[in-house]
Parts: sequence; C-alpha cells; structure tokens
Amino acid sequence: MYTRRQLSWRLQGRRLSGDSMVKRMLERLLVTGGAGFIGSNFIRLLLRERPGVRVVNLDALTYSGNLENLADVQDDPRYAFVRGDVCDAALLGDVLDGCDAVVHFAAESHVDRSIIDSGPFVRSNVLGTQTLLDACRRAGVQRFCHVSTDEVYGSLALDGDDAFTETTPLSPNSPYSASKAASDLLVRAAHETFGLDVVITRCSNNFGPYQLPEKVIPLFVTNLLEDKPVPLYGDGRNVRDWIHVLDHCRAVLAVLERGRPGEVYNIGGDNERSNLELTQMLLDIMGKDDSFIQRVADRPGHDLRYAMDAGKLRRELGWRPRQSAWPAGLDETVAWYAEHPGWWRRAKSGEYRTYYEQQYGRREALPA
Ligand code: NAD
Ligand code: DAU
Repeated sequence: MYTRRQLSWRLQGRRLSGDSMVKRMLERLLVTGGAGFIGSNFIRLLLRERPGVRVVNLDALTYSGNLENLADVQDDPRYAFVRGDVCDAALLGDVLDGCDAVVHFAAESHVDRSIIDSGPFVRSNVLGTQTLLDACRRAGVQRFCHVSTDEVYGSLALDGDDAFTETTPLSPNSPYSASKAASDLLVRAAHETFGLDVVITRCSNNFGPYQLPEKVIPLFVTNLLEDKPVPLYGDGRNVRDWIHVLDHCRAVLAVLERGRPGEVYNIGGDNERSNLELTQMLLDIMGKDDSFIQRVADRPGHDLRYAMDAGKLRRELGWRPRQSAWPAGLDETVAWYAEHPGWWRRAKSGEYRTYYEQQYGRREALPA
C-alpha cells in the first residue's frame, strides 16, 4: 500500500503523446475494484501480457475486496495499491494524475445482497461511477472502459433461442442490475455530452479462481468440499451463460485498447447451462450424489435466462473465448478451489457467516 506522496513518486515520468493508442493507453492505467474477483484476474493478466504497463489498483476493500488475490504481484514495481472509494472525488484527483486510461470494475456485485439492501449499490455503482467520470474529465483521462453486465438487458424466455445484442433495450429487474444500468447510462452521457472517450463492456456470468463463495459456483464447490448441501433456488431451470474470467479479461483488454469510442461490446461464453445442469456437473466432478441438493425458496425477481450475442466483439476485435468450454473449464475451477482451502476458508469467515445465515438460515426448504 502506498501513501499519496509515494504514489505520485511511483507514477512520475513522461506522459506519452505518441499516436499509438495501445501504447499511450496502457502506459499508466487506473483499475478500480482490482482487489475483487475479476479485477484481480485482470491486473495479473495485464502485468503478464503488457510488460510496459504501470497499474494503480484503487479499491475500497469492501467485504468482497481481498488483497490476497494479488499477493503474487504485490511487489511488482509496475503495480501500486491505493485503498480508497470511487465516491471520494479528492482522492480520485490524486490517483488519476498521470493516468492515461481507467478500467472501472469497482461495484457492489451480488444480486442477493442487493435484494437485502440496495443502498450500497446505488452509492458505489451509481454515485461512484458519476464521481469517477467527472474526475476523469477533470484529469484529462484519454479512455474510460466501463465494465458492465448482461443483466442490464433483463431476462429472456426460458424456451427461446434468442440472445441479447448491444441494441437490446435495457430492462433491469434487480436493484443490482438497475444500478449497473444507471451507471451505463451515465457513462453514455459522459460521452455524448462531454466527449469523454468511453467504451462499455457487458459480460455474462464469470467463473474461475478467486471468486467469492457468495456466487453460485464457488459457493456450491466449497460447500461440497465441506460435505455441506448446496442451496438450489426454485426449480433450478434458470439459465446462465458461463464464461471463464480470463476470457472476460482478455475481452476487456481488447475493448480498452481497440474498441471504438462510445461503443458497447457484449461478451459471452457461448456456454448456456441451467442451474440444475450446472449442479449435476459439479456433483459428478466432485463424486457426490443428488442428496446434496437442497431445494430452497426462489430468488425474488429471478431472471429466467441470459444469453449473449458477442458477434460484434468477434467481428471487430477478433476476440474468441479460449478457456470457457466445459467440462474442462469447470474441472480446472473445481481443482483450483480444492487446492486453495486456506483462501476460501478465510473468505467464508467473519462477515460472510452473518451474510450466509441471513441469506440461507431461514430460507424455506422446498420438496426435493
Ligand atoms: P467483486 O464483488 O468480486 O469485486 C468488486 C470490487 O470492487 C471489490 O474489490 C470491492 O472492494 C470493490 N469496491 C466495491 N465498492 C467500491 C467502492 N465504492 N470504491 C472502490 N472499490 C469498491 O465483483 P466482480 O465479480 O469482480 O465484478 C467486477 C465488476 O464486473 C462489477 O462491476 C460487476 O458488475 C461486473 N461484472 C461481473 C460479472 C460476474 O460474473 N461476476 C459479470 C459481468 C460483469
Ligand atoms: O450475468 C452476470 C452477472 O452474474 C454479474 O453481473 C453479477 O455480478 C454476478 O453476481 C452474476 O449474477 P447471477 O445472479 O447470475 O449470479 P449468482 O452466482 O448469484 O447466481 C447464478 C444462478 O444461480 C442464478 O440463477 C441464481 C442461482 N443460485 C445462486 C445462488 C447464490 C442458486 O440457485 N443458489 C444460490 O445459492
């Protein structure tokens, strides 16, 4: 962790003015929410694949931020961590000094928590994004990459084979997705009104290492590792399109570097599965039987199906998912959690226990 003075020393140096967008943008990058699941995977990928980059990770370390996720890069001289809130305009002025581009991951991210209390979602996702956009304009940031979600489009029919495109109207159903949709619109407005160079990505459900076990895959895997039941909501027919977190991160990098200003890019894994199918696959991989499935009351407003048409990203930027196919991608992910019990046991302690009890403790059990 760095003081503001140390940080400005670390970031001192030449501001590039060359005409290579890739080089200019990736010289100095601010990543928000880099201590979370996707942000930490993104920073690791960036440091590996772009040796010339310097990255500042601004993260408030909420319940979902975890510096352990980046323990292997914390001493890299190209990396600096600043603990702080995207709603803190004064701090943003400091950390943005000298930064060419921003990749904005920081958000409250869990649908179930937004149903319990939507206040933090409006604060971090809406007010935080607006504060950050204004600070980027003041600092002359050259590109703002906003990381959003397929959930802003709402829900598709279970039995259809249609998919969301970038022109599908926004129709969010949960407080989480409503707050993300609001942030997307603020990003769009910053482009249309103030000419800020923005790009927006909207991705489907991620899986992979370092995901907090409040989300379904790490929750089910770690419960099974503990010989505990897995709480399947409703009839288990809801469908999600699963993508490996590194495929998502490579897509964000491609959009950051080469996406057209003002454009939205959908990202998806071409890997649609019902929750029941996912659960059966996990039980098979982990050698457990159906008795571990505990059917519980459904999530209110539970979106039925998400499916992404990522054709624009494929055509314009040549992106393809490389690690999302199942069962291989799911096998590897299960193996990662099995090999990192210290990481997830610590993640499932403290505040997590209170949340788990509130979310599942009194949840109605449904007949098997
Ligand atoms: P996460 O909850 O694991 O991480 C969020 C991070 O943001 C945490 O480190 C947290 O400390 C930080 N943060 C939260 N509020 C902050 C604030 N006010 N100021 C500074 N930092 C703050 O989330 P994730 O799953 O890694 O998701 C990252 C982003 O990607 C989110 O914007 C989410 O909407 C989006 N997204 C997630 C998925 C998915 O499947 N997980 C899919 C599509 C898009
Ligand atoms: O689609 C992208 C979104 O994916 C992201 O924007 C969100 O940040 C991310 O949390 C995720 O949202 P979901 O609500 O789809 O993910 P979650 O892992 O919470 O749930 C996946 C499915 O599994 C969903 O249909 C609900 C179901 N589920 C979830 C939990 C936590 C269960 O059946 N039981 C559970 O205990």
